[in-house]
Amino acid sequence: MADLFPSMMINGSSKVLGIFGDPVEHTLSPKMQNAIIQDLGLNYVYVPFQVTELNLEKATQAIRSLNIRGVNITIPHKVSIMQFLDDVDETALKIGSVNTIKNENNKLIGRNTDGEGCLQAIEDTGMNLNNKNVIILGAGGAAKAIAFYLAQKINKITIINRSPTKMQTLVNNLRNYYDIQINGILFDQKNELKKALDEADLLINTTSVGMSPNIEKCPIEIEFLHPELFVNDIVYNPLHTQLLQNADQIGCKTLSGVEMLVNQGAIGFEWWTGKKPNKKLMKKIVLQHLLNHK
Ligand code: ATR
Repeated sequence: MADLFPSMMINGSSKVLGIFGDPVEHTLSPKMQNAIIQDLGLNYVYVPFQVTELNLEKATQAIRSLNIRGVNITIPHKVSIMQFLDDVDETALKIGSVNTIKNENNKLIGRNTDGEGCLQAIEDTGMNLNNKNVIILGAGGAAKAIAFYLAQKINKITIINRSPTKMQTLVNNLRNYYDIQINGILFDQKNELKKALDEADLLINTTSVGMSPNIEKCPIEIEFLHPELFVNDIVYNPLHTQLLQNADQIGCKTLSGVEMLVNQGAIGFEWWTGKKPNKKLMKKIVLQHLLNHK
């Protein structure tokens, strides 16, 4: 990977991009972003910043004082950083979290590209989301980001979750903004769950069930899947989760979490630089990393 490391290209005019998180060691964003910077021959560099909760305000101010052009935001700062920004995109404001910040002439603008990235990944497969019936497994931060973008296109959304409180909160939240059919079901309401799945076009897993090291776990029974269902798991480690393996077996069209990861990064990159990145290259970098760290 030495040929991808851009430090030899940095000079006095290089523009800085980065990611704030704690921990930040495991992020794949620097690899993806530096690869596309180099691919396009841009004078940028993307670096990781380990920022604790305590230092978040100062670190955010430093985006302005150090003239950093843009940053991604990851765990645990996606919600708390919003209070330090000058402006937040309308949908990110509804979602209540941001994962990307752009420094526009010292004005910090927040956006949430997680939901947009998931939508783009699905649409890149050729699926038309208009008027679709979608099931989201989970009701956490990722589910919320995805649901708020999806709800702008589809006509029915069902949130399936383990805890009733989180499920109901997300359902109520969505109903406040969108005039489409919005339902909530718990994982142990098997009859309702089966019926909802039978009628659905698309299933998106946003829970961590099946994520390494618990790779044999699947959030939903294989009997509940049907061949017309498009199944997207946003978990990307492992690449081929148990859910996707089961869906393949049933004959469903499937999409791995790598696509959302790539697309959320690509949207941020284009927003910062005005250039369209090579998403195939981004995907190749992620896949190489995942295969080397199995
Ligand atoms: P993220 O930001 O990645 O969405 P999160 O906000 O912690 O993370 O949300 C994780 C989601 O995965 C939640 O919906 C959680 O369900 P609960 O609301 O019941 O906690 C779901 N989840 C995690 N582990 C789960 C498990 N073993 N079974 C079912 N759902 C699980």
